[in-house]
Amino acid sequence: MIIAIDGSAASGKGTLAKQLAADFGYDYLDTGALYRAVALSLLNAGANSHNFDEKQVVSAVSTLDLSLTQTAEIRTDKVAALASIVAAIGPARAKLLSLQRGFAAAPPSGKGAVLDGRDIGTVVLPDADLKFFIDADLDIRAERRTKELIQAGQSVMFRDVLEDMKARDYRDRTRSVAPLKAADDAITIDTSNMGATAVLALVLSHIDRICPSEQ
Ligand code: CDP
Repeated sequence: MIIAIDGSAASGKGTLAKQLAADFGYDYLDTGALYRAVALSLLNAGANSHNFDEKQVVSAVSTLDLSLTQTAEIRTDKVAALASIVAAIGPARAKLLSLQRGFAAAPPSGKGAVLDGRDIGTVVLPDADLKFFIDADLDIRAERRTKELIQAGQSVMFRDVLEDMKARDYRDRTRSVAPLKAADDAITIDTSNMGATAVLALVLSHIDRICPSEQ
């Protein structure tokens, strides 16, 4: 069983994906963490958003230290911004495909996998059993992310988070390779006025309707 969850930044897709994986005993892959880890490794090597080339990015993907995906350092707006710039580079995305598909094909639990990102239902796993597309109003998402970052001890201002998120959304939606968009067969959920518990309940009701044997 493979569940694909795509959506915009801070839409609640990560929270939902983790909860679903825990509920069903499936494995979870945060694919955004891969792009963030690539960005962090570039920053650590002295790059910034203006001074790197495609070759350097592809090489950063090839030599990626996966333990970076588990670090708090990837959870900053600076890393997120560079992640979305490098994520527009086709050859870099192509190199991450087999890792993501391999995880879905053979999840450690042997039961199922939940992957979240931008292109899981459209490009990475177009044959996923279930696809959800999670979105919310920009202001609400920026508010959520500001709270999250402040809780994590970062000093950020709502206005900056909002501007960064707007720019990132635009890049993610308009890039030519694997843009952020709902797959034709995805169920779209707007979480602007919903808490995480309500979103999970709604998604579980869809799963129950589509594949009753899973619950
Ligand atoms: O946590 P948030 O939703 O803000 O971002 P993320 O999921 O960690 O993704 C960071 C960036 O990685 C995104 O803005 C995308 O540019 C890129 N990404 C992507 O291109 N494809 C994916 N499957 C996942 C993330």
